[in-house]
Amino acid sequence: MERKDFLNKLTGGLALTCVACMMEACSKEDNGGSDNNTGGTALLTVNLNSQLLAVGDYISENGVVIARLAAGNAVSSFAAFSNVCPHQGSQVVYQKSSSNFFCSAHSSSFSQDGARTGGPATSGLTRKTVEITGTTLTVR
Ligand code: FES
Repeated sequence: MERKDFLNKLTGGLALTCVACMMEACSKEDNGGSDNNTGGTALLTVNLNSQLLAVGDYISENGVVIARLAAGNAVSSFAAFSNVCPHQGSQVVYQKSSSNFFCSAHSSSFSQDGARTGGPATSGLTRKTVEITGTTLTVR
C-alpha cells in the first residue's frame, strides 16, 4: 500500500469515527433533564411544585447540595454546590438555622456562596449550575 492510500484510508476512518462520536453525543444530550448522571450532565432534577418550597429547604444527594435561599423560582433563589466536603469528602448539608452549608464530620462550614467560613477544610465548595424551565429545576 502506498503512503497516500494509507493516509486516505486513515483519514476516512477518522472522519467516520468523529461522525459516530458526534451522533452519540447528540443522543446523550437528548436525554437531558433526567435525575441521573448516566445520560450526560444533569446531576439532579427537582420538581419545584413539591420540593424546595420554603426558604432554607435543601436537598443533598447525587453529589449535589442545593438550598433555597429566597422565595420565587428564579435561578438566583437557589445555591447549588458539590456536596463532597473539600476536607475529607463527607457529605455537606445546608443548615437553615445558621444560613450556611455545613459538614458534620469535622465541622467545616461554608457561606451561601460556597466560600469556606470555618473548620479544617482549606477551600470552598465547588459550584454547580442551576437551570429552571417552568417548575423543573436541573442541577448540572
Ligand atoms: S470531611 Fe468535612 S470537615 Fe472533614
